[in-house]
Amino acid sequence: MSTDLIDIAAVPEAWTRTHLLDLESLSAEELTLILDTAETLREATDGCSRKVSVLNGYTMANLFFENSTRTRTSFGLAARRLGADTVDFSSSGSSLSKGETFIDTAKNIEAMGVDAVVVRHHTPGTAYLLSQNLKCSVINAGDGAHEHPTQGLLDILTIRQQRNRIEGLTVALVGDISHSRTARSNIWGLKKLGAHVIVCGPSTLVSRRWEELGVEVAYNLDDILPRCDVLNILRIQFERQAMRPFPSVREYAHLYAMNGERMRRSKKDILIMAPGPINRGVELTPEVADGPHSVILHQVTNGLAVRMAVLWLLLGAANR
Ligand code: CP
Repeated sequence: MSTDLIDIAAVPEAWTRTHLLDLESLSAEELTLILDTAETLREATDGCSRKVSVLNGYTMANLFFENSTRTRTSFGLAARRLGADTVDFSSSGSSLSKGETFIDTAKNIEAMGVDAVVVRHHTPGTAYLLSQNLKCSVINAGDGAHEHPTQGLLDILTIRQQRNRIEGLTVALVGDISHSRTARSNIWGLKKLGAHVIVCGPSTLVSRRWEELGVEVAYNLDDILPRCDVLNILRIQFERQAMRPFPSVREYAHLYAMNGERMRRSKKDILIMAPGPINRGVELTPEVADGPHSVILHQVTNGLAVRMAVLWLLLGAANR
């Protein structure tokens, strides 16, 4: 797509969705269209830093019921880069404390003239629930351990930029798979685009049942490391766990942390990724997080490109 075709009316007819709730239901063609659109908008905005006013007159609301740094900020910036107005809602300090329901809260925000809501909530299915109750577009910014579709998209975009392909690559997701919405979105997206996906971590955090999604399950990082083109290193989500899933953080780091010694046993051009936030010294050491193979901050920049693309496509389809 050429950069002079980014008018909202130029959203391809083939794109018909007005909500983005998951990557499970998207086809390979739809995934590729989002990635290609993100590249076009990245170029049109000089690397996501300049404004193009294609969503003038539109308003996007961030509805965050869980903490966030990257997703919330980049959705806000993405909307403003495209010329849209933004509203930021936080559950703390809101009238939820007076007994207002989640859906009533969302309907009231929508009634202020909002065209798209971006929702993050600890309950799986929340974005779907809103899509059934609101007239505007709904974007899932993370629903419990279910999915985080724009994170999956920005991870895949980063791999495609660095390797010019997804098909045939071996991508390992390492760490706390069981609580990870990012893992689920990556798995759906990467598998549809032809990657071989490995999920690796302690057996308390990686069940054999993941094989049902068509991925390889591994418990020994050192065994799989020489085969991996990409490692996407997931945070241990202590806040979602009633019991500690391993005897000590030190033992976890010994078995699974990416460090200088493991880097030397990896492929020469391995990509090191992490959706963030990262726990330095637990999942990866600072020399790896800040080293030449790390594309962690590229992922963050690509978050803007992907979120611009998603807003443009959804609002374009809704506009029709
Ligand atoms: N990766 C991610 O979702 O980060 P935040 O929780 O900071 O949004």
